[in-house]
Amino acid sequence: MSFFTNKQPLVADILSRYPANRKRSAVMPLLREVQNAEGYVSDAACAEIAAIIESTATEVKSVMSFYSTYSSSPTGKYHLQVCMTLSCALQGSDQMWDYLCETLDIGVGDVTPDGLFSVQKVECLGSCGTAPLMQVSDSGYYECLTKKRLNALLADFKARGDGSLPESDVKAPVFIQKNGDVVQQITADGMPVGGAL
Ligand code: FES
Repeated sequence: MSFFTNKQPLVADILSRYPANRKRSAVMPLLREVQNAEGYVSDAACAEIAAIIESTATEVKSVMSFYSTYSSSPTGKYHLQVCMTLSCALQGSDQMWDYLCETLDIGVGDVTPDGLFSVQKVECLGSCGTAPLMQVSDSGYYECLTKKRLNALLADFKARGDGSLPESDVKAPVFIQKNGDVVQQITADGMPVGGAL
């Protein structure tokens, strides 16, 4: 049975938000429904959405691929999205990405055998001042990452095992200056930012 077969009232409600001749505008909320329920949007679901909005599966996929919030393959309970854009790159996101992949023994599109983890590279997450950082699943932001903080987070996620997240402990970095030059960034509790990776 296809995803929306038993959800006609929901489909009608979503379509009612847009002019009758603009059904394609409903692509995002329809994708969101599938993503939330299934954890990813399959080819079959894309085709189904395309039929609903009188478009093509290619067009639906092209919209979907623009946003990292949608996934085209199953993800782990903890979907680790590492920002790879400039500020994070300058603070060690490449090394963080390599470390994550080596530690979890997975790459893009993989899920760890226990179903807990998947990884993805993403563009700027909008918190460049606390680079490097990652977003976990749909909500958690974990910033000012170091190898030590990353290990602690992975251990926490494994201990939980249910997709729940610890409270994000965002701490704006403190800049240590010497003779007018920034020589180091540390978090409020003294952990070095970025360079320690
Ligand atoms: S560059 Fe990573 S949050 Fe902006």
